[in-house]
Amino acid sequence: MATGISKTKWNGDLQVSSCENGQFIFRPIWEKGNSENRLYYGDNLSVMKDLLKDKRVKGKIRLIYIDPPYATNSVFQTRKQQDAYTDLLIGKEYVDFMQERLLLMKDLLADDGSIYVHLDNKMVFHIKVLMDEIFGIDNFRSMITRKKCKTKNFTKNSFGNISDYILFYTKSNNYVWNKQFEKWTNDKMLKEYPFIEENTGRRHKRVPIHAPGTRNGETGKMWKGMMPPEGKHWQFTPAKLDELDNNGEIYWSSNGNPRRKVYLDQSEGIALQDIWLDYLDINNQNTHTTGYPTEKNIDMLKRIILASSNENDLVMDCFAGSGTTLVAANELNRNWIGVDMGNEAIKVILHRFQNGTQTLDEQIRNKKEEKQEMPNLFSEQESKNDNQTINNVLPYLIDNYTIFTNGNYSGVEFSLPQS
Ligand SMILES: C[S@@+](CC[C@H](N)C(=O)[O-])C[C@H]1O[C@@H](n2cnc3c(N)ncnc32)[C@H](O)[C@@H]1O
Repeated sequence: MATGISKTKWNGDLQVSSCENGQFIFRPIWEKGNSENRLYYGDNLSVMKDLLKDKRVKGKIRLIYIDPPYATNSVFQTRKQQDAYTDLLIGKEYVDFMQERLLLMKDLLADDGSIYVHLDNKMVFHIKVLMDEIFGIDNFRSMITRKKCKTKNFTKNSFGNISDYILFYTKSNNYVWNKQFEKWTNDKMLKEYPFIEENTGRRHKRVPIHAPGTRNGETGKMWKGMMPPEGKHWQFTPAKLDELDNNGEIYWSSNGNPRRKVYLDQSEGIALQDIWLDYLDINNQNTHTTGYPTEKNIDMLKRIILASSNENDLVMDCFAGSGTTLVAANELNRNWIGVDMGNEAIKVILHRFQNGTQTLDEQIRNKKEEKQEMPNLFSEQESKNDNQTINNVLPYLIDNYTIFTNGNYSGVEFSLPQS
């Protein structure tokens, strides 16, 4: 679970902040493979300004997901009590911070692209108004309510807060959309599809064959000696109803009432709605996690990526944290750009790319064994030369990407984990 501490003291490592004029400020400092995948260490404002100069990226990003700070006025720590990132901008300063960045994101997004902004109840409405202004109210698609954690028994004088929100906008009316379905659970399936067809054993439900409103055409005519009920019309033409009946797809009740059989084996699942209950961040001791605070549920990210992008598309998360979006995108054969200005975040991402994640139980068990020697990615000589490309040959789970930064990295301690 995230550890937000209400304090303003920062004990973490140096964070990069820079914005210079001129050509590309960010340069590759390590690369492997020749993919489009990029990991940036730096303030996303300057990174995005740089990306806007890059023809391969500007207007080419199909999907942006961000999970920025939420204006909590806290410092967030990892499970190992390392300061990970600060969340100290509040009120107008916070809105200005977001506005500046959302404007750049819009320019980076493809015309048929989508953006998802994850927030909690504190600033979601402020940012909704901002998004309406930037992306256009007509391009607002959904506000997803997500159950983020288990029910809380210890609440203040209020209702337990277990939800956060994801604002989903597109850049235009013509956007990539792959409808998502939830799998049937046994309980829901038995409730929704209670009947078994005698001769075939097919599970099905029985639905009316009429719909509200009268029609003058074929669907308003008599079928098998019956007119549609008062104020209604048939859902199909009489010819089509005959065909369904001949195929055994019409059920006739004992009092002669026809209903259409809808079969479970023809259902893709339950269309995903805008309340998500199954994507808690930490569910139990078996939840895989990096230990980075506010790490999001990877299955939730996969859902978003599947819905709003296709294979080989470019996906960006410029508040990458522990790299959940990047790993999800990689698994789903998308190219990705990740940005974070926190030294701890980049360390965690690199570790995750090589080692994956551990369950909470495993983390406790392995705590003692974690003090391995790790080679420093930025050796003294390398950090003096920001044009230098470092090729590393260690085996990786995710090893096809380039790391960029802007020259201010001397003194920080990213390490590539040993295999
Ligand atoms: C809420 S966390 C993201 C967690 C992430 N979704 C995950 O699953 O791990 C927000 C991240 O944004 C980063 N961040 C904050 N301001 C930033 C900025 N201006 N540029 C780049 N990264 C920033 C922080 O360092 C932090 O890692």
